[in-house]
Amino acid sequence: MGRGIIVLCLSLFVELAMGQSYLDMRHHSYREMKEYLQLVNNICPEQSRLYSIGKSVQGRDLLVLELGTSPGQDQLLKPNFKYVANMHGNEVVGKELLLWLAHYMCQEYRNGNEEIQLLMNTTRIHFLPSMNPDGYEAALNYPREPKPYTYGRANANGQDLNRNFPDLDATACQIPNGQRTDHLSVLTKRAGDNEERQPETEAVMNWILRHKFVLSANLHGGDLVANYPYDASCNGQEMGHYQKSPDDSTFRYLASSYSTAHARMSKKGQACDAGEKFKNGITNGADWYSVPGGMQDFNYLASNCFEITLELGCDKFPKEETLPQYWQENKNALLNFMSKVHCGIHGLVIDAQTGAPASGAVVVVKGNSHGITVTKNGEYFRLLAPGDYEIGVSLDSNFADDQELVDKNIQETFWDSANSTKCKFFSVTVPECKGPGYAVRKDFKI
Ligand SMILES: *[C@@H]1O[C@H](CO)[C@@H](O)[C@H](O)[C@H]1NC(C)=O
Ligand SMILES: *[C@@H]1O[C@H](CO)[C@@H](O)[C@H](O)[C@H]1NC(C)=O
Ligand SMILES: [Zn+2]
Repeated sequence: MGRGIIVLCLSLFVELAMGQSYLDMRHHSYREMKEYLQLVNNICPEQSRLYSIGKSVQGRDLLVLELGTSPGQDQLLKPNFKYVANMHGNEVVGKELLLWLAHYMCQEYRNGNEEIQLLMNTTRIHFLPSMNPDGYEAALNYPREPKPYTYGRANANGQDLNRNFPDLDATACQIPNGQRTDHLSVLTKRAGDNEERQPETEAVMNWILRHKFVLSANLHGGDLVANYPYDASCNGQEMGHYQKSPDDSTFRYLASSYSTAHARMSKKGQACDAGEKFKNGITNGADWYSVPGGMQDFNYLASNCFEITLELGCDKFPKEETLPQYWQENKNALLNFMSKVHCGIHGLVIDAQTGAPASGAVVVVKGNSHGITVTKNGEYFRLLAPGDYEIGVSLDSNFADDQELVDKNIQETFWDSANSTKCKFFSVTVPECKGPGYAVRKDFKI
C-alpha cells in the first residue's frame, strides 16, 4: 500500500514537472478541439500531422490528426489505421478519448515508451475525433439537462450519417455465392445510386478510398459492445438475423480483441438494454439490428479496410467528471486494437518478368470470396485470425487502385473463388498476433 502511494506521487510529480497534465478530461467544443489537436501537433511536429478531409454542412473542418514517424507519407509495407468518432454528434465519449489518446501517444513517444514508439514507428495512425462537428455543437449547447436522447445525432441537414453511405450490403446480397464481395463501389454507381450524400459522408468516403487503410473502428455510444459486419440483413429482417461476412472469423477475432481488453465490455450483464445479451461483448451487426447504408460495411465492401463499430457506454453524453473512468476502461483496448493492424499476412506482389509492382492483382484466400487488392506499390495487407490458410494471387481482375474503380465494368470485378484452377495457392500459418512484427511475410512473383 505504501509503495502504491509513492508510485502515485511520482506520477503526479512527473505530470506537474512537464508543465501540463496528460489528460485534459472535459468536453471540448469544436474550437477547443481544434486547439487541442494543434497543441498535440505542436508538441510532436515530427510524429504528427493535422489535416482536413473536408467541411461539414455548417463549414467546420473535418479534422484528422495523423500520428506516426512518417506523417503524410506512405512507406512500403507500413499499414494505415484509423479511428473515427462522434459520427452521431451527441455520442461524445469516443471524441474525447481520441483527443486524450493522441496527446498520450505523442507524450509517451517523447518519453521513450517502447510499446508506443514501436506502434508509431510501424504504423500510419489517423484519428478523426469528430465526423459530425455540427451535431456535436448542437448537443453541447442544448440548454437543459438531461439532453434529449437523440438531440444532435444527425448532421445539420437532419441526416443520420450512419445511414447515408451507399448501401453496398444490398449489392453484396445479390452476388452469387463464391463470387467476389469486395470493391463494390463501382456496382453501386452502376445500379443508379442517386441517394444524396451529405458533405461529411462524401468527405469520409473519399478519405477511405484515398488511403491504404487496413483496419479501423467507428466509435459510438448508447450501448456497450463491439459490433462487426455485416450490419444489414439480406432478408430484410430488422433484428436477430446473423448476416455472416466472408471474414466472419477474422471480424470476431478483431471485435473480441477490443471487448476483452476493455475493463468490462466482455463481462456478463453489461449490455444497456435489459433484453440484450452480447456473448463476450461482441455482436454481428445485423444480428443486433439491421443498418443499411452504414459506414462500417462501406469500408469492408468498397475498400481493403476492415472496420468494426464500438459502443463505448450507455450514456451518450455523460457528465464531465465520469470521463476519466471511460479512459481507464478503454485505454488498453484502444491501444491493443490499433496493434491488430499488424495481424495476418502481408507482402509484395511483383511482376516476375519486369520486377514492377503487380498493382493489377488481387490477393485471395481459398474459400473466402473477399479479395484484397494490391496497392500501386505492389503491397497487400491481408488481415486474418490465427489459423492455417491457403493464399494466392489472382489476375482475373484488372483493377488496381481504389479510385480507378469507378468506371470499370461490373462483370469484370467478379471472380469465382471456387475455381482454384486459375490461382496457385500456398499454405501459410497465421500465429496468434501480438502487434507490430507479427504479420507473416509472403511475397509473390507472378
Ligand atoms: C522508433 O524510431 C525512432 C526513430 O527512428 C528510434 O529512435 C526509436 O528507437 C524507435 N523505437 C522503437 C521502439 O523501435
Ligand atoms: C475455371 O476456370 C477455367 C479456366 O478459365 C475454366 O476453363 C473452367 O471452366 C472454370 N471452372 C469452373 C467450375 O468455373
Ligand atoms: Zn451512434
